[in-house]
Amino acid sequence: MERGKEASYSQSCRHRLASRFPSAKVSTSVMVVVLLSLLTFKWTEFMSVASYAYNSATFNSVKQVGDEDEFAFGILGVPWCRTRTKNMVNWTRAELLQELFVFVEIYKTRPIVNNSNGMGFDHSFGLWFIARKLQPVLAIESGVFKGHSTWVLRQALPNVPIVAISPKHPGHYARKGSAYVDPNCQYFTGRKFTDFEDIHWSSVLTEHNVTDASAVLIFFDDHQNQLRRIEAVRKFGFQHLVFEDNYDTGTGDHYSMRQICDQYHVPGGGHDCSDGEHEALVRMRRQGRWEKAINISELCGDDGDWWGVQGYARDNFGHKHRKIPHSQHFENGRYVEEILDAYWEVPPAASPLLTDQTRYDPARTVSPILLSGDQALFQELGLEDVPRNAFNAYTQMAYVKLLIPTDPEEDLLYQQVPSD
Ligand SMILES: C[S@@+](CC[C@H](N)C(=O)[O-])C[C@H]1O[C@@H](n2cnc3c(N)ncnc32)[C@H](O)[C@@H]1O
Ligand SMILES: *[C@@H]1O[C@H](CO)[C@@H](O)[C@H](O)[C@H]1NC(C)=O
Ligand SMILES: *[C@@H]1O[C@H](CO)[C@@H](O)[C@H](O)[C@H]1NC(C)=O
Ligand SMILES: *[C@@H]1O[C@H](CO)[C@@H](O)[C@H](O)[C@H]1NC(C)=O
Ligand SMILES: *[C@@H]1O[C@H](CO)[C@@H](O)[C@H](O)[C@H]1NC(C)=O
Repeated sequence: MERGKEASYSQSCRHRLASRFPSAKVSTSVMVVVLLSLLTFKWTEFMSVASYAYNSATFNSVKQVGDEDEFAFGILGVPWCRTRTKNMVNWTRAELLQELFVFVEIYKTRPIVNNSNGMGFDHSFGLWFIARKLQPVLAIESGVFKGHSTWVLRQALPNVPIVAISPKHPGHYARKGSAYVDPNCQYFTGRKFTDFEDIHWSSVLTEHNVTDASAVLIFFDDHQNQLRRIEAVRKFGFQHLVFEDNYDTGTGDHYSMRQICDQYHVPGGGHDCSDGEHEALVRMRRQGRWEKAINISELCGDDGDWWGVQGYARDNFGHKHRKIPHSQHFENGRYVEEILDAYWEVPPAASPLLTDQTRYDPARTVSPILLSGDQALFQELGLEDVPRNAFNAYTQMAYVKLLIPTDPEEDLLYQQVPSD
């Protein structure tokens, strides 16, 4: 047995035990709160949104079976990617709210009104917000579909060139309905389609006069294993990434940041596959209420493997999948923690009590920008005019900031996803 395996197995046993004793969990939460207060004290300039997101993560498992509210956020845990640097984004709820007022008006002018199978309102806002905050000199997107996300990027970055990668050119969809083709975009589509990992990025950057890869924003909506994508971007020094489909553990068609960071040692992370346990009971009740909520038998394989999707790291729209041992999942989490500078999940715009969304389960989600009592604000924002189904596509979109690799060999110290 390799060392990594031993370490992670003892780790997993310890946390399995800990999770059986609510008091142990509570004290972990208390510790996290204390730690956070210290951090907040030291990093006042970095606080707010991240700590507000962390708050919902610390509610994990403290509530008793029976008193959960179907609209309560974070009660089944919100695993959060930890970062070696402990840095957090400094975006506040006030800024999100202010930007939401601007974005609702922009969203009304979208060229693709029905973007089913693509981005809805929450992620469109998230991408626009992040792009505006970062002001990159170039944006790259992988996974274009009809071009809605290209349009969102263009609204945030009026003068910045975009590079878009997808098997089909978005114009292809114009024949059947609406599509968006951008005039200042280099399309790697159709016969020019090349997967992100095979593009000669140094030449493309040179073509666009970009000398600093850390001034580029990359948006991934291509349903590929996100650990594989991270390994690829690091080779070129890219730092700023947004992952659209950041699927929760047990769901989705590719290994995601959220899945990678769902670990026993992370607040809100790890699962107990035993029937009759707290989590199993809560999940069973929620399954009937939220379309994306899954029960414990869907979360856990027959062998009790819960990480990824029943112990599998899925890839390429689920066409590929590989069973990985817990030791490897653990190492993947450690690897990501070592190379991450910041991690932030876009909060949903508003509580399902306001949006009537029926799909994502709030129990596994960070608190929304507008809480259930913010009815007046919801109306004032004009969110009532947004079609109800535009709130149904939320999957924890994440902004991920990577550290610049210092030692090119450093990545090799960690066990990585084996290629097929
Ligand atoms: C969910 S859709 C993207 C939705 C879009 N971003 C939007 O605005 O709503 C996924 C897209 O990824 C494309 N795709 C499939 N494999 C890909 C790959 N290897 N690289 C980039 N795009 C890929 C699909 O053809 C599809 O257009
Ligand atoms: C937030 O962080 C960015 C980048 O680190 C910095 O430029 C900006 O001034 C910060 N804003 C606030 C309000 O602290
Ligand atoms: C949106 O488009 C999808 C597929 O293109 C279709 O199934 C659905 O009925 C449409 N929805 C609305 C509200 O038009
Ligand atoms: C890049 O810079 C050169 C020299 O300044 C200029 O001629 C060219 O138009 C620029 N290209 C782009 C895509 O901005
Ligand atoms: C779990 O959910 C699946 C899919 O909805 C269902 O087929 C199965 O019967 C459920 N199992 C339990 C134990 O509720």
